[in-house]
Amino acid sequence: MVRNLQASPQWERITEHWVTDDVAADLTDFKSDSRNFNISLWSPEANGVRYLKTLVYDFAERLGEDDWARLRRIRNREFGNPVTVRLNGESICLDYLQAVLELGFIERHLSLDGARVMEIGAGYGRTCHAVLSNHDLAEYCIVDLKNTMRLSRAYLREVLDDAQFAKVRFVEVDDIGVVEQAPAFDLCVNIHSFTEMTPATVREYLDLIAEKCRAFYVKNPVGKFLDKALDGHFKGDEAVRMALRTGPLRKVIDVFDSESVAEVVPDYIAAYTPGRGWHCVAESRAIPWSYFWQALYYKDGSGS
Ligand SMILES: C[S@@+](CC[C@H](N)C(=O)[O-])C[C@H]1O[C@@H](n2cnc3c(N)ncnc32)[C@H](O)[C@@H]1O
Repeated sequence: MVRNLQASPQWERITEHWVTDDVAADLTDFKSDSRNFNISLWSPEANGVRYLKTLVYDFAERLGEDDWARLRRIRNREFGNPVTVRLNGESICLDYLQAVLELGFIERHLSLDGARVMEIGAGYGRTCHAVLSNHDLAEYCIVDLKNTMRLSRAYLREVLDDAQFAKVRFVEVDDIGVVEQAPAFDLCVNIHSFTEMTPATVREYLDLIAEKCRAFYVKNPVGKFLDKALDGHFKGDEAVRMALRTGPLRKVIDVFDSESVAEVVPDYIAAYTPGRGWHCVAESRAIPWSYFWQALYYKDGSGS
């Protein structure tokens, strides 16, 4: 019997370009080059979206019932065309996957209904959207830079209903006196932004939190990385130099080594303690990132 076991046109092309005659001449790096990227592994450079979707899909599958309930209460998540996957009829992206995990962590330790919340560095407003969709707050105050605030104002106007939007107060950093004059906040939130401010600015904000807030949720990296393979230093060397100078935690570590990360966690907990009379009540790795940590602090005697 004559069997046709020849390479398909697809594999003819692969053997012409990538798994060529000299494929075995030097095996030093073959698992990280185009040979293996045609065999066992998809090229990470070319398949970023595929890996992102895989990450979201995998972590979304692990969400609990309470997380899904939180997610479903957040309407209009599709606005702005996010990269999503679909599970059991529900669409989910990485931003809101993180938002429900962050909110779940906070809710385990703090009652938010009727609360006054301040967020420093809100980005486009995903956390504000998630919190206001799940809780009947008294106020959500965003402190941010002018241009980012243009984005969050426009986004939140689109995704929140009128009653929710009316609870958002937008404060530019130059108008921080408004916060200084305001009544105390039950919670301050900072996610992935103290790490991008100068250490002096972070100190100013921590002093403000110590003075004006009863609890503080922080989620930021525990250190810096320099491995160019991770991001190709795509914003240029100057951006790398700037990133190494920001945030209170500037030690370069192997962010994908659990022991390196664990070693600097105590520094993280200490660095983000707003002041004397504050203590950390809960801390953990912030899924999905290996080197982001989340912590919640209470001010002593705040009744939290
Ligand atoms: C990487 S984004 C994170 C946004 C958001 N927290 C999130 O996780 O999606 C950093 C945020 O910090 C804000 N930011 C940077 N410097 C700031 C400063 N000095 N004061 C207040 N916000 C600042 C940026 O405008 C932006 O909103």
